[in-house]
Amino acid sequence: MGLFRSLFCTFFMLKIISAQPATDPNEVVAVNKIIGHWNLQTKLNMSSIDPCTKNATWAPDTANPRIACDCSATVCHIAHLKIYALDISGELPQELFMLKELTDLNLGQNVLSGSIPAEIGQLSKMQYLSLGINNFTGLVPPELGNLTQLQSLSFSSNSFDGPLPRELGKLTSLAQLYIDSSGVSGPIPQELSNLKSLQTWWASDNRFTGKLPEFLGDLKALTVLRLEGTSLEGPIPNSFGGLTKLDDLRISDLSNEDSSLNFLENLTSASILSLRNCRITGQLPEKLSTFANLKILDLSFNKLTGQIPNSFQNFAALNYLYLGSNNLSGELPPKLISSELLALDVSFNSISGSLPQNALGISMNVVGTSINDNASRDRKTSAKLNCLQGNTKCTDIISSTSFSINCGGTEIVSTAGIKFDNDSETLGAASLYTSPNTQWALSSSGIFISNPNGPKYIAQTDSQIRGTLDSELYKTARISASSLRYYGLGLKNGKYNVELHFAEIQIEDSQSWKALGRRLFDVYLQGEKVLQDYNIQNEAGGSKRAVVKTFQANVTNTVMDIHFYWAGRGTCCIPFQSTYGPLVSAIHVTQASDSVSSSKSDKKSVGKIVGIAVGSAAGLLIICSVFYLLWTKKAPARTRVDTDSPGKG
Ligand SMILES: *[C@@H]1O[C@H](CO)[C@@H](O)[C@H](O)[C@H]1NC(C)=O
Ligand SMILES: *[C@@H]1O[C@H](CO)[C@@H](O)[C@H](O)[C@H]1NC(C)=O
Ligand SMILES: *[C@@H]1O[C@H](CO)[C@@H](O)[C@H](O)[C@H]1NC(C)=O
Ligand SMILES: *[C@@H]1O[C@H](CO)[C@@H](O)[C@H](O)[C@H]1NC(C)=O
Ligand SMILES: *[C@@H]1O[C@H](CO)[C@@H](O)[C@H](O)[C@H]1NC(C)=O
Ligand SMILES: *[C@@H]1O[C@H](CO)[C@@H](O)[C@H](O)[C@H]1NC(C)=O
Ligand SMILES: *[C@@H]1O[C@H](CO)[C@@H](O)[C@H](O)[C@H]1NC(C)=O
Ligand SMILES: *[C@@H]1O[C@H](CO)[C@@H](O)[C@H](O)[C@H]1NC(C)=O
Ligand SMILES: *[C@@H]1O[C@H](CO)[C@@H](O)[C@H](O)[C@H]1NC(C)=O
Repeated sequence: MGLFRSLFCTFFMLKIISAQPATDPNEVVAVNKIIGHWNLQTKLNMSSIDPCTKNATWAPDTANPRIACDCSATVCHIAHLKIYALDISGELPQELFMLKELTDLNLGQNVLSGSIPAEIGQLSKMQYLSLGINNFTGLVPPELGNLTQLQSLSFSSNSFDGPLPRELGKLTSLAQLYIDSSGVSGPIPQELSNLKSLQTWWASDNRFTGKLPEFLGDLKALTVLRLEGTSLEGPIPNSFGGLTKLDDLRISDLSNEDSSLNFLENLTSASILSLRNCRITGQLPEKLSTFANLKILDLSFNKLTGQIPNSFQNFAALNYLYLGSNNLSGELPPKLISSELLALDVSFNSISGSLPQNALGISMNVVGTSINDNASRDRKTSAKLNCLQGNTKCTDIISSTSFSINCGGTEIVSTAGIKFDNDSETLGAASLYTSPNTQWALSSSGIFISNPNGPKYIAQTDSQIRGTLDSELYKTARISASSLRYYGLGLKNGKYNVELHFAEIQIEDSQSWKALGRRLFDVYLQGEKVLQDYNIQNEAGGSKRAVVKTFQANVTNTVMDIHFYWAGRGTCCIPFQSTYGPLVSAIHVTQASDSVSSSKSDKKSVGKIVGIAVGSAAGLLIICSVFYLLWTKKAPARTRVDTDSPGKG
């Protein structure tokens, strides 16, 4: 017994000694300098304690800041460093690159700035590296290609510029690559075709150029691919047909060449397929209905023709079906609305038919179709707006020459005495709403895919809004994950002034990572793009600050069409999941007096820009210049107009 005890004690003491080897002294110095550099002493005070102390409070997975060591060799090394969402700022300190044994570095969701030094390439043991949501600038360092052990790399939501380095193609162990909204531009390097282990690639909202590369079809391990809001050109290559593991595919806003849906044939595991505005032609593939996991199918703003296949009545799991703004025809399959379906958008197609009894429970948008939806007020609106497809002339009883809406809010009379109508109805994922006075209607489509139970299409704040006497008007706003369209109805034909009121109320203005979000969206007036990549914060000079854009547009068919569209641009998730897409606070439309211009030279009847932001000296100057131009009968400046644009409906 005594012998056993002493043997045990010896073993136990040896164990303690051997379990606690010395920590690399260079790393101890470096880590203390890093803590000092970011003023983290109060959160992480180890000035007189070994950072690798056993069972330290800063070592568990959940600790933040976290420092954890690998003591498996004769010396302890710092292997994990996490300083996450603590708003550390400034540049990366050189001491960071002395932690050569790091396998896991997470500096995500801070406001780090400057460029990433080439020395990052020395941290060759790295497996998990997150620099996402920061304020880094400069080039993405090619030296990242030296970190060949990397399994996960994120530098999403930063302000880099220049190309995506081809050296990233050396990261053949990479399973996750998050580079959305990072600022990179130019072609997607061919070398990325070597990333055979890549499962998740978020790459939306980067200015990639050239064609959507064929070689991405070689990344056979992909389960998640996001390429929304790039500058890539179509078509979607047939090689994508080989990505049979895809679960979540999101591509949007491809330009130039048309695509077909033939590649989808074998992507049978997909649960999310979102291919908005990709110039897709041809018919809806019957086979889609056999995709047992498919929950979200968004093919809106394409050029699909033919009927909705009857097989679409057999989806097993489909919750959201978006087919709006295509050229589909024929009857709506009578049993399309199943128990699983939560939202249906077939707006702006040549579809007819009527909706079954069970249709009342789901969100639906059938505006611009010949479908009888029975809800009396909205049916009349649908009928009125059917003409916007271009086939027939809109006719309506002329009832007004103006309308005003407090988007997302209740009725308000502004300091100028204008009554802004109540627009606080709760909308679903596909909705048409007609105001009680039938002077305007609202068509809304889109689901915040990663957050379907999140924002309910209205944003609000309790904060005061600066730069206006009408703060209340801006405290609520309509938001959308795809398309938000207001229609003035029964308007006397003629020239109108359109005032669009905006204030950013979701993205912060602060020294925090929460201020790093970028909201970008497009606006079409009477089918013409008048604002592209509009950023409210930039225009207003901050968040919770009002800005008014004024345009002139002609009504020739009793309808005013004001369309807010998300082209996949901007950050997705700052300060919270699904912070993106259009946001509008109020709309005020009035008939313009004819005194400004009487030119008959231009036969076009749609949205020319007149004014820019009102309320600044520059804005006034621009307006003066425009009036001068109009006076001298020269055409005012126009924004770039894309004729194959979603606004064409
Ligand atoms: C860190 O801890 C040491 C003693 O362990 C103490 O003397 C020092 O004041 C602490 N520093 C901070 C910033 O809390
Ligand atoms: C560390 O924690 C483990 C388990 O939580 C425990 O068994 C061990 O005694 C602790 N060691 C020290 C040195 O505190
Ligand atoms: C790291 O990458 C750079 C650029 O890709 C290269 O020039 C350098 O030789 C690499 N260094 C090491 C140690 O591999
Ligand atoms: C789908 O798989 C079949 C059988 O392997 C193959 O013949 C066909 O070409 C594939 N389709 C596409 C679009 O890749
Ligand atoms: C829509 O389809 C019809 C045939 O159904 C065709 O005549 C028409 O040109 C198409 N319109 C567009 C804009 O493609
Ligand atoms: C819609 O109207 C048709 C006839 O106009 C009627 O048969 C049907 O029951 C109505 N549907 C609903 C949901 O009220
Ligand atoms: C405003 O609209 C909402 C939703 O349509 C409605 O419930 C509410 O009663 C309206 N408020 C007023 C004052 O009309
Ligand atoms: C990010 O950096 C820019 C300059 O590049 C600066 O103007 C901005 O204030 C920074 N953002 C934050 C939240 O620190
Ligand atoms: C409106 O129509 C008039 C002529 O009828 C034309 O001169 C003017 O340019 C049009 N305005 C816009 C914004 O298209």
